[in-house]
Amino acid sequence: MALPQFNTGLGEVTIRHLSKTFTLNGQPLPILKDLNLTIRSGESLAIVGASGSGKTTLLRILAGLEEADSGDVLIDGRRIRGVGTERAVIFQEPRLLPWLTVIDNIGFGLETRGVSREESHLVSQRYVDLVGLKGFETAYPRQLSGGMAQRVGIARALAVQPEILLLDEPLGALDAMTKISMQQELARIWKEEDVTTVLVTHDLEEAIFLADRILILPREKGGEPLLINIDLPRPRDRSASGFVRQREELLGLFGLH
Ligand SMILES: Nc1ncnc2c1ncn2[C@@H]1O[C@H](COP(=O)(O)OP(=O)(O)OP(=O)(O)O)[C@@H](O)[C@H]1O
Ligand SMILES: [Mg+2]
Repeated sequence: MALPQFNTGLGEVTIRHLSKTFTLNGQPLPILKDLNLTIRSGESLAIVGASGSGKTTLLRILAGLEEADSGDVLIDGRRIRGVGTERAVIFQEPRLLPWLTVIDNIGFGLETRGVSREESHLVSQRYVDLVGLKGFETAYPRQLSGGMAQRVGIARALAVQPEILLLDEPLGALDAMTKISMQQELARIWKEEDVTTVLVTHDLEEAIFLADRILILPREKGGEPLLINIDLPRPRDRSASGFVRQREELLGLFGLH
């Protein structure tokens, strides 16, 4: 049986003259200032920057959960208005439905789109396998570890076949060992799924491990964002000299060594 096709675009994201200012205690708090960037179809972009630099704000604007003051976000040349099925968002905590099993959590989005239960199970099984949860299909969220729950969240997001996956510190709450194995899995999954991804992280090593390019949001208001190409071969090796050099360079940009 063919998988249901919801999205047929390429998932290219164009950000044009995007600006956002919040108001805090009656004072304007500029967060994003005339940001311009094209995220290529299938590219993985990491967004890093100090706490409060606007990473989540930018991701929420791309998701359509927040409005910019000015500027546009276009997907495959079309201006976005609010949320859309071609985009899926993964937050730090997976927000699973506690009364549904793993496979039903993964298939939830499909069923709300009118896919039959039988077909949804077939599709969901593929994503159960992809995220390495074979054998846990009938488990409930309370029976899963943090890393497993996050995998279900990733599988649920991928099951509806988004063109663009938006992730806000998806591995931030995991312990160091689980985090490294999840990073390896994400690298593998992204290679297989060919989805455009935007990953917010405060972990520079994670950004270098996963991203084609890294957008560094400025710490000081009025500073310019930086865009860095990560031209390291894949699969990436954290101990390779190129990786270590890249990490040093990035730490240097943050004034951390
Ligand atoms: N709804 C809001 N109203 C007012 N100010 C806001 C609002 N949302 C975010 N801000 C402010 O915008 C700035 C950027 O917030 P944002 O959540 O985008 O930062 P971040 O880079 O994701 O930080 P962190 O690494 O801590 O998650 C912060 O100074 C925050 O106080
Ligand atoms: Mg944030």
